[in-house]
Parts: sequence; C-alpha cells; structure tokens
Amino acid sequence: MVAQPGPEPAISSSATHRDRGQSGEEDLQGLGHSSRRMITVTVREHVFNECNSGKNAFGPAFFEQHLSVVVEYAMRLGGTLGADLEIIELAGWLRDIAAVQDVAALRRHPVLSAEIARRMLLEKGYPSGRAERVATCIASHSAPIETGNGRPEEVCVSSADAMSQIVRPAYWLCFAFQVRRRGFAEGRDWLRQRVENNWAALIPPARAIIGKEYRQVAEFLRL
Ligand SMILES: [Fe+2]
Repeated sequence: MVAQPGPEPAISSSATHRDRGQSGEEDLQGLGHSSRRMITVTVREHVFNECNSGKNAFGPAFFEQHLSVVVEYAMRLGGTLGADLEIIELAGWLRDIAAVQDVAALRRHPVLSAEIARRMLLEKGYPSGRAERVATCIASHSAPIETGNGRPEEVCVSSADAMSQIVRPAYWLCFAFQVRRRGFAEGRDWLRQRVENNWAALIPPARAIIGKEYRQVAEFLRL
C-alpha cells in the first residue's frame, strides 16, 4: 500500500488576506488562491514522497515528526503575528528538502533548499515575487529570528523549527542516536543542549504556545 501524507493542516482564510507584499503591490501574476492552494498541495505531496524515498537519511518519520510539526507551529505563530500563512506553509514544507534529498547537503541546506524551492515554485507557475519570499524564508530558517529582525514569515518558520525540537523529543533522540550515531549520554546531552538553546532563543509568543511542552521535556531530560 502506498503511504499518504495524512490530513492537511487547517488553513486560515487570512492566507488570502495577506497576498500583498511589503510594498503593498499585488504579486499574483493572475494566479488565484485556489490555483496557489493546488501548488501547495502538490509541493506537500512531493516532499512527503521525498521523505519516504530511500535517499532520506532522516527516515520517513521526518515528515510527520518534524516537517508537519514545523508547519503546524509556524502557522499558529503566523496567526498571532499576522504573517502570510501561504508563504509560511510553502517554506515549512520545503525548508529541509536539500538535506532530505542528500544528507551531505545538511550543512548548507538552508541556502540549497531555498534554491530548490525557488526553482520548483517557478516551474509550477507560482508568482515570482512570492516564490522569492518563500526562498528568503527558507534561507534564514536555521536559528530563531527575533521579531523585527526579519519578515514575520521568517520569524514564524525559524521559531517553529526550534519549537519542533522541544515538542518532539522522542524523534530527536532517535535522530541523535540513529542519524548522528551518538551514544546514549552524548545523544541525550545533545538534545538537552538543543532544548535549552532553542527555548532561550524563542520569542515570547512562541514560548506561550509551547510552555507546557517545554516544562515536560525539561523534566523528561532532567535539564
Ligand atoms: Fe532545516
């Protein structure tokens, strides 16, 4: 049986309300919301298939335990910060694609994934200005960005990436042991450090969303 990517995340109607760039100019190149929604759905399916391919060193669980979690939390933050949810969702699905396709790209995956995303979206007819915003969001996702230091979409996706490591400790322990080949204490200490660093870097609205999960994982890892 061929696995399916599961239910789509709920999309707020604010995705359509925020179709304007920072300049206030429309950048839709005649492409309506439903066509852009279809592009997002096909992107998500493509990423799901890549995660389930033999090339993905992070394992098929990467889709549900990391990518989907980042999209979910980035969109929740996006609702709070008034960000463009469509840009967030596309960046959320595509931001690790280079590393999923080739783990050797891990170190440079934000820049390489941004290039892949830009090319893929333009090939699908996605508006060029919005494709550029998705690429910018991907290129800057590796560490949480503070409010005011980037576009709201960049703040949301970079924060959600850090949040995902706090709320899914089982996956990240598996990652430490299996992908990074760490021993027990080393892998546990790696996750402790990530959880501490990520929590310290989160903006207050992100902390408000995952405060309970942070306290639970802190106890679980005995920080
Ligand atoms: Fe990443």
